[in-house]
Amino acid sequence: MKKKLTRFDFQKMKESGENVTWITAYDYSTAMFAEKAGMDMLLVGDSLGMCIYGYEGTVPVTMDQCIAHSEAVRRAAPNTFIVGDMPFLSYQVSIEDAVANAGRFYKEAGVDAIKLEGGKRVCPQIQAISDGGMLVIGHIGLTPQSSGQLGGFKAQGLTAESAAALIEDAKAIQDAGAFALLVEAVPPEVCKIITDLLSIPVYSIGAGVHADGQLMICHDVLGIFQAFTPKFVKRYAEIGEQIESVFKEYVEDVRESRFPEDKHTYKMLKGEEEKLIKTI
Ligand code: KIV
Repeated sequence: MKKKLTRFDFQKMKESGENVTWITAYDYSTAMFAEKAGMDMLLVGDSLGMCIYGYEGTVPVTMDQCIAHSEAVRRAAPNTFIVGDMPFLSYQVSIEDAVANAGRFYKEAGVDAIKLEGGKRVCPQIQAISDGGMLVIGHIGLTPQSSGQLGGFKAQGLTAESAAALIEDAKAIQDAGAFALLVEAVPPEVCKIITDLLSIPVYSIGAGVHADGQLMICHDVLGIFQAFTPKFVKRYAEIGEQIESVFKEYVEDVRESRFPEDKHTYKMLKGEEEKLIKTI
């Protein structure tokens, strides 16, 4: 049976140069397949707002939605390290809120860690959640919850000045007690500096190959999310197209009475049909 990894395993993997594999999952079936595939980590990302609920961004996502999806993922993947993603306004308003909401992920969904977006400005929250005995992953670079402030879903750290600010954020997050850091949509050379500088593991989504592991959004990798595809995504399949063609085939079969076939139906017990006809 697969062994669930711990923060110490992730730390050792950084030290031995073994890449961590990480993908988002929002539902039971996907999480089950990810665990079977040997994924090291799952993120129940607030990207579920776009992938599952059809919102334009992650801002409308609620704690209750994140908890419900995290519970389903936990049931499907008992032996995989699961990270719950703190949605917008679940940690920005106050430190007390941040600790209580992180605690909900632990108590109600049984996650192994939580992730939250932001640099220096969320370090008091990171510190308080860690002091509460929970594991925190920081998230810098393109932070979708503040995409309005960033001017959209745009790559970050493209200038020396903004890269230096990201490096300062990364150090502050480590000092605040995060056990790992996610860097999103940042040039590889900047992510490499951060990875080399920090003693905690640094993971990339769209930040190149030099990090300690990679995260991808499952709907991107599977080719299910159709609205847009960021540059950093590798689409391993076009499952969306396959789903559409299966549904079309089913629609045609039903319309033409080709489905269900005899093999899809139940048989009455011998002699019961005649009895029934006599009765009616
Ligand atoms: O919600 C999510 O899936 C994320 C990734 C975009 C990093 O936070």
